[in-house]
Amino acid sequence: MSQVLLALERALDARHPGWAEDDAVVRAAQAQSEAFTADETARRTRPMRGLDLLAYLAYFAPRGIAAAARILPAALDVGQPRRIVDWGAGVGTASLVAASCSDARLVLIDAQRAALDVAAALLAPLDVELGASLPPGLGAGDTLLLSFSFAEMVHSQSFAQVTDPLRHAARRGAQLVLIDAGDRKSARPVQQLRDLLVDDDVAIAAPCPHRDPCPALVRERDWCHTRVPRNLTPRLAAFAERVGRDADVMACAYLVTQPRPGAADDDRPPVRVLSRPKVEKGRVRVPVCGPAGVRFLQAKRRDKAATKCVRNLDRGDRPDVDPATARGDTIHVDDAVETAPKGRFP
Ligand SMILES: C[S@@+](CC[C@H](N)C(=O)[O-])C[C@H]1O[C@@H](n2cnc3c(N)ncnc32)[C@H](O)[C@@H]1O
Repeated sequence: MSQVLLALERALDARHPGWAEDDAVVRAAQAQSEAFTADETARRTRPMRGLDLLAYLAYFAPRGIAAAARILPAALDVGQPRRIVDWGAGVGTASLVAASCSDARLVLIDAQRAALDVAAALLAPLDVELGASLPPGLGAGDTLLLSFSFAEMVHSQSFAQVTDPLRHAARRGAQLVLIDAGDRKSARPVQQLRDLLVDDDVAIAAPCPHRDPCPALVRERDWCHTRVPRNLTPRLAAFAERVGRDADVMACAYLVTQPRPGAADDDRPPVRVLSRPKVEKGRVRVPVCGPAGVRFLQAKRRDKAATKCVRNLDRGDRPDVDPATARGDTIHVDDAVETAPKGRFP
């Protein structure tokens, strides 16, 4: 993904050669970041022009690129789209990643025309379609991509206004790929949409492929998120450090559906690892999300092969275990478990 980040740096250099050291750009990024965390329900991307545009390109776009780079290749492999419609595309952050891993035609939709013009320049010489509203007739062959735009939309319009066209497209066979920030106010709407899609009989490819309600929605204070590496270039990392947000990993929420009629259904059990395993006295345990909610996969230390497998599990892995064998909240493993393909989705 470094090629995409280098293209971003070149665009920044062309617009403002001193961007990386300019305190005014740093302050604009800090102001945008503070506004984002101060009132999560009133999130609105600032008009992308002047310092705000530079701050977006230097600080926020790399975040979108990192998340898309971790999720999109596997998602598009599942979706195999002929057309990718990037809704809330902004400066084209996720489309840049999509273009690097798919030949599908790109359609970028955003309320800010100026942002789309920046996107078209970043994506050149690719010939992309730009628009202000979703094209009609979305369905089979389309992937509808929302990168860091879904939460902003549902908090500025009604939930149904945003989710109805998504559900309609999914029922007509389109694939949905949503990527958003990993805080509670951004992540819960993604999980609420997941439950509606399951009711609509749309298959979930990731993060949790089971067909039961998302257990993270039971308590208002919970939400589901994952972590992805930011993998910044040295200049973008130095800029993030000046902004005061230089963590190597970031939290994000995401949802990927199977298109319908879909690629072959994944026949592994619908169980997904939620975090790194914990080694405890005499056993190793890891939480998994599956039918009927969160359970623990557990191996006794005396079962060496099982212990090794459970210890090697990581967030996003899909171990080949049968959740129906759970006793209480625990699925006991006493032999090696398969987890292929490892870490496809985070
Ligand atoms: C945080 S930016 C994300 C941009 C880009 N997808 C990314 O990952 O960097 C959110 C974008 O959603 C756009 N947006 C918000 N509400 C919208 C709507 N109802 N229709 C189209 N675009 C919208 C904003 O203009 C903004 O460009």
